[in-house]
Amino acid sequence: MNDLTTYIKSIGEKTDSTLEKLLPASSLYPQSIHELMRYCCFAGGKRVRPCLVVAAFEACSGKSAGEDVFKAAAAIEMLHTFSLIHDDLPCMDDDDYRRGKKTAHKAFNEALAVLGGDALCIIAFEVLAGIGKVEIISEIARSLGTMGMIGGQVVDIESEGKPVDKDIVEYIHNNKTAALIRASINTGAMLAGATKAEIDKLSSYGTHVGLAFQVVDDILDEESTTEQLGKDAGSDRERGKATFPAVMGLEQSKLYAKDLIDKAWEDIEFLGNKGYYLRELAEYIRVRIF
Ligand code: IPE
Ligand code: IPE
Ligand code: MG
Ligand code: MG
Ligand code: MG
Repeated sequence: MNDLTTYIKSIGEKTDSTLEKLLPASSLYPQSIHELMRYCCFAGGKRVRPCLVVAAFEACSGKSAGEDVFKAAAAIEMLHTFSLIHDDLPCMDDDDYRRGKKTAHKAFNEALAVLGGDALCIIAFEVLAGIGKVEIISEIARSLGTMGMIGGQVVDIESEGKPVDKDIVEYIHNNKTAALIRASINTGAMLAGATKAEIDKLSSYGTHVGLAFQVVDDILDEESTTEQLGKDAGSDRERGKATFPAVMGLEQSKLYAKDLIDKAWEDIEFLGNKGYYLRELAEYIRVRIF
């Protein structure tokens, strides 16, 4: 077993080389949008979702991830990048920095940022179609729609500046963030041919780490700097966002994240030693500093 840092680095490099092959060249007409898509995808994300696809595949199959697994991981990273481009737009969170660089609409322009996000979403589904497993396309599509990420983003925007309770914040976080994280894990498991019972347990793990991921994101927005995060710190408080620290305070939010990660570990006890990287990734999601 490699340590987690080596594992994440290796998956990040293979995801990047797969993205390199799948994304249209910047020199291809119309160059502006292809430049934007590459600018955003290669700006330096943590590649957490690709790591979860690969770790779930390897835990369930006992084999090393091959080409199709990395294609799925790259497609999910494109979908995540699309969600970030749109999330940063002036009509959404109106942020200026992302992944340590200017946001897409700042570095290019708003129309191109909207279209570039759309294009990443569309090419991602073309790549997924190429893998040829309809159930994976359905799983990922559902996680992004109005019963998933988009539903969460709608309630996130509609709750700005309003008093909210824990149930609403949980709805927002479960949908805007946990849904794609859960789908990433399920994609890895489905590619490995996991049983329904295994996928159910991994889905629960996905819900717990996905929620924890956004709770920690909310905490970091309060406690870190823009330099550390590579994106605008303090922007949630400024916009009156419905976050866990806003409803339960920072200390309770940290305890809640710990509780969620403990539950995630319980969900994958059935994997025994094969669950090593999934357990390590869950803990990394809790203790990360950006
Ligand atoms: C940021 O996601 C958006 C959320 C869902 C909180 P990440 O923290 O995974 O962003 P990158 O990919 O590392 O930039
Ligand atoms: C966004 O949540 C989740 C997405 C679906 C993109 P945030 O708005 O908190 O993400 P950041 O903090 O801008 O990365
Ligand atoms: Mg947002
Ligand atoms: Mg945002
Ligand atoms: Mg945030």
